[in-house]
Amino acid sequence: MNAFVINQYGPPTVLKVTKVSTPLIGPKEILIHIAASGLNPLDYKIRRGDLKSIIRFSFPKVIGTDVAGTVVGIGSQVTDLQPNDEVYAMLPVPKFGGFGEYVAVDAKYVAKKSTNLSFEEAAAIPAAGLTAWQALRKKANINPQSRVLINGASGGVGTFAIQIAKAAGAQVTGVCSAQNIPLVKDLGATEVIDYKNQDFTRIPHQYDVVFDAVGNRSFSECKPILAKKGTYVTTAVSPKVMLQSVLSSIGGKTCKIIMVKPDKEDLYQLAQFAEADMIKPIIQKIYNATEKNMVEAHQQLESGHTVGKLVMKMNFQDADD
Ligand SMILES: NC(=O)c1ccc[n+]([C@@H]2O[C@H](COP(=O)([O-])OP(=O)(O)OC[C@H]3O[C@@H](n4cnc5c(N)ncnc54)[C@H](OP(=O)(O)O)[C@@H]3O)[C@@H](O)[C@H]2O)c1
Repeated sequence: MNAFVINQYGPPTVLKVTKVSTPLIGPKEILIHIAASGLNPLDYKIRRGDLKSIIRFSFPKVIGTDVAGTVVGIGSQVTDLQPNDEVYAMLPVPKFGGFGEYVAVDAKYVAKKSTNLSFEEAAAIPAAGLTAWQALRKKANINPQSRVLINGASGGVGTFAIQIAKAAGAQVTGVCSAQNIPLVKDLGATEVIDYKNQDFTRIPHQYDVVFDAVGNRSFSECKPILAKKGTYVTTAVSPKVMLQSVLSSIGGKTCKIIMVKPDKEDLYQLAQFAEADMIKPIIQKIYNATEKNMVEAHQQLESGHTVGKLVMKMNFQDADD
């Protein structure tokens, strides 16, 4: 099969289209013929070697976590999926394997995609959608009374977070740059703060939940806008935040870290929400599978200013550009 393979850490040009063996499936696995893969900041962090001390694997390596496609092989112990099922998944770390034509993955990570979404739309959901879902529903326990502020509201995680908070009946404030204000309002934020004009940590409002999807504002900075028993959740994982999360668990305002986990049941819930038109993936660009496009997609991701998601069709043979 064709895949984007890295043989070393480095710039986007280390991602080379290469012929590799199609993966074999174990008894608990399924083989997915990948139609489209979603891209995430994790991909460039892995590619650059930023996380090499904690996420270990050997080269050559096919990276990529988010896939949507069709089931073409079933392990002997898999009972809940069939050949031809249209599915999507977040692939576990450090196995990855999303930037190729096929991937073998444990069926416990795979859910059927929503029927009203294309493969490209479904591929945009897994890691970002699961992060937003697990942060707001599982870490912050949002409810219809929650006042929720989302920093990074126009990004991959943020665009799902607004919709998930809105669907829960919460009152949503989004933080983004001026050009993305119409999008963030359209997704369900009743108030939007342009971070270039106003520091959201200094506004005279209280929030039950502050979700820092960018990961650039600390718990201490956000404390003044957190309600008495408010929860701060961040996507930034560091020893300092981990310590704060342990210390803050004693009472009052709470600091939590989200470390997204692949989860079939959560993906099922997200598919149900998509089916009911309560969430829709926002996609900045869909690429064909060429090395040039993969470089462009990684450069865009690294800019830190992607609107919603980037998706690549895994259409190597017929990809022109
Ligand atoms: N811990 C976990 O499990 C986990 C899971 C998923 C993601 N993450 C991390 O979370 C971060 C966000 O992920 P993502 O997929 O949403 O990234 P993304 O799609 O690249 O989105 C980044 C967003 O940040 C906004 N932004 C940039 N600078 C900002 C600033 N100074 N203040 C406010 N917003 C700013 C951008 O909006 P503008 O264009 O309007 O500036 C953009 O919409 C990444 O670092 C990612 O690695 C962690």
